Amino acid sequence: MVCQEFELEKFTHMRLKIINIVGARPNLPKIAPLMREMQRHPEIEPILVHTGQHYDEALSDIFFRQMGIPTPHVNLEVGSGSHAAQTAEVLKRVEPVLIEHQPDLVLVVGDVNSTIAVSLAAVKLGISVAHVEAGLRSFDRSMPEEINRILTDALADYLFVTEEDAIQHLLKEGRPRESIYLVGNVMIDSLRHFLPIAQKSPIGEDLGLKNGADWQRFAVLTLHRPSNVDSTEKLAELLGAIDSIASEVPVVFPVHPRTQQRLAQAGIKTHPQLRMIPPIGYLDFLCLLSKATLVLTDSGGIQEETTALGVPCLTLRENTERPITISEGTNQLIGTDPAKIIAAAQSILAGNGKPGRIPPFWDGHAAERIVDVLLKNPPVGPHRKSTLPVT
Ligand code: UD1
Repeated sequence: MVCQEFELEKFTHMRLKIINIVGARPNLPKIAPLMREMQRHPEIEPILVHTGQHYDEALSDIFFRQMGIPTPHVNLEVGSGSHAAQTAEVLKRVEPVLIEHQPDLVLVVGDVNSTIAVSLAAVKLGISVAHVEAGLRSFDRSMPEEINRILTDALADYLFVTEEDAIQHLLKEGRPRESIYLVGNVMIDSLRHFLPIAQKSPIGEDLGLKNGADWQRFAVLTLHRPSNVDSTEKLAELLGAIDSIASEVPVVFPVHPRTQQRLAQAGIKTHPQLRMIPPIGYLDFLCLLSKATLVLTDSGGIQEETTALGVPCLTLRENTERPITISEGTNQLIGTDPAKIIAAAQSILAGNGKPGRIPPFWDGHAAERIVDVLLKNPPVGPHRKSTLPVT
């Protein structure tokens, strides 16, 4: 009995305590498979912290329910704000949480303000950081996410990458080769896991796009990048191009709150087949993506999801940090010139979508690979916990 208790105590003591961070909507499909995988391993104690960068039912809560993500142990409730204010609030509020829990590792995903803020708080406390989706670069420093990516990668001890190019970017920035792991794409883990469930979504009937088993042709649009939506003129110009597409096929447009605010101010009139709807949950959205004839977007994750689904995608940006979706996938970087958008969309609607193949390791097992790396190479070193105040 004593012996068993000793063993249990020893085992509990040796568990790898990992604080996993989510902040904004795109973090959630990335963390879901990681939490699931960590929970399968009794050697790991996963803790989930939500910074509260996104807080709405539609941008946060519905994702937790649909993807079975555990309720966060802590919600920092930072809310919206300027970049400096939001980043500073996360930094300030996460520090006592890290001190209280004394994790062996903090795992961050993606490129949002919460990603860099928590990484910075953690390294200053001597806690190792793992960055999932490291090394992506748009080489456009006017994008807030590009700054977050560069800084997070400069701090992280484990750099988990989705594609080969990312390895080269990290090496050029002086990151050690032994800290870089090509593991695939956790977002695609979620896609593969949830696609069969998503296909049962009633969204097709609800939007009148489906009759019996038959879907009509339609496009999906998302727009939320500040460079596309923060100027009314730019937004009006883009929606003008989308109007032309909507005169040929219905275009479903789940409108992000940032975009909604601008639309409300601008009073732009659009074609009746441009169907603006509030943000929708993961399963409904995945269902629409998988059945769309064409997707137009400025999101990063959607470029990857369309490549994994084999659905033609037009990226309405001048650059992408996900070039593999172009070199191997169905994505085309089309920019924001209305004439080019209309011509590319018409070509796809005429049946000339770009064929693609699925990049290596985008196979639904990225989270397994990440957890395997962490278990085989647990954080060690002189800095580990050395600067954490004892509670
Ligand atoms: C953030 C991320 C971006 C990511 C996007 C996905 C950064 C720098 N940006 O941008 O990388 O692609 O999330 O959505 O981290 N709002 C709500 N409800 C919410 C959250 C926000 O209505 O739950 C409104 C607020 O009025 C806010 C606006 O949306 O001012 C924009 O939100 P914010 O978090 O500032 O940036 P996003 O554009 O969402």
